[in-house]
Amino acid sequence: MSVNYSIPRGTYDILPETSYKWQYVLKTFQETAKLFNFKEIVTPIFEKADLFERSVGDTSDIVEKEMYKFNDKKGRKFALRPEGTAPVIRSFVENNLGFSGNLCRLFYSGPMFRYDRPQKGRYRQFYQYGIEAIGSNHPYIDAEVIAFADTFLRNLGLKNYNLEINSVGCSICTQDYDLALKEYFSPHFDELCPDCKKRMGKNPKRLLDCKVKSCQSIAKNAPSMIAYLDEDCRTHFEQVKFYLDKMGIVYKVNDRIVRGLDYYTNTAFEFLNNNLGAQNALLGGGRYNGLVKQIGGKETPGVGFAGGIERLLLSLEQEELFCGKNSIPEIFFITLGKNAQIKGVELIAKLRNMGISIVTEIEKESMKSQMKAANKSNALFAIIIGEEELSNNELVLKDLQVGNQKMIAFKDIGEIKEIIDKAK
Ligand code: HAM
Repeated sequence: MSVNYSIPRGTYDILPETSYKWQYVLKTFQETAKLFNFKEIVTPIFEKADLFERSVGDTSDIVEKEMYKFNDKKGRKFALRPEGTAPVIRSFVENNLGFSGNLCRLFYSGPMFRYDRPQKGRYRQFYQYGIEAIGSNHPYIDAEVIAFADTFLRNLGLKNYNLEINSVGCSICTQDYDLALKEYFSPHFDELCPDCKKRMGKNPKRLLDCKVKSCQSIAKNAPSMIAYLDEDCRTHFEQVKFYLDKMGIVYKVNDRIVRGLDYYTNTAFEFLNNNLGAQNALLGGGRYNGLVKQIGGKETPGVGFAGGIERLLLSLEQEELFCGKNSIPEIFFITLGKNAQIKGVELIAKLRNMGISIVTEIEKESMKSQMKAANKSNALFAIIIGEEELSNNELVLKDLQVGNQKMIAFKDIGEIKEIIDKAK
């Protein structure tokens, strides 16, 4: 019986020829985190389902349609994490990470899961990187979080992106705005899509980012949130823009950014790459001043962002940017004959202990087949031992780039490290 296994829809394998690009992106993210003094946090891949249901919000697409939920053997409800903010805040509260009173700056990365319709740049398992700054409502911190994102994208060398910002206000000014939206959309109720009809009562702001064309044309003339901001929220937004200007960060105010998750208050932002097609959000984030309390902690403001690595890699490819390089062995070890092979095993172990990366193809016997393998491996040098070298207690070190070679006595193999270091 033949069984045909294939990868689940909306997922993909990271193959050896691209894994180094991932590492490059993650390393650049970690280096940016160091620059801004953010520390890494790692949370589980699954959490109690109600953590997301209550925080991300029951009118969000994520909770309504996209969560991978399951019951464990005792019937407890869990979910594969669809995003990183709620788990980080759960951990912040549970581990009392705010104890010092200083701003808690955290970064994370890892797989997230959303049962979404797969397409270019959108997957069911995708890999997010993100940061959260917890403990301050100061508008400078919003600007700093945005500056982190901008620095990261620039450090990768990306140029084709733009920043859009908005303020979605606080729980107080949202009330008036929600009323205004309900008033605006009510006469069009029958023309709205089923999702918008459902959301109208609970969260009318979500009608502003509906992807259905007919809803979009109705939403075009809806009132702007910015006109409904109360004085504190308006000042906060003005200050965020002030600090962005001071930092030289270019942005556009887009009063239609509402973000698809319910926990946002005040600042909301997205970095877009419009060459990416429908999934053009490189990363998105904002402030969430009610989330820590909602998850069971003391009232504590927070702000952060997250982005998908897949869309970054697409952007890097589009801009033909250098993406690190795959590792190559320093030495390819060739042996001719049984006795040389046994000596080879001993020397390979010694050379690896010196920190030299080394590879051999033990099943290939002829010089020709081993030389072919050496060239395919892109190794810098080959070491060759045949019967003659063995009887003289020496080896041939051949530079595969230049083509010249030199004899080295077994007792002097320490020299090889120096030769490699010089050649690199
Ligand atoms: P989000 O907008 O849902 O926000 O996702 C952030 C980013 O993750 C998106 O801009 C996109 O780059 C990537 N992304 C989302 N869904 C997919 C998918 N199905 N396939 C590939 N990439 C995807 C959040 O997740 C918030 N937790 C961000 C945040 C952090 N807000 C404050 N702190």
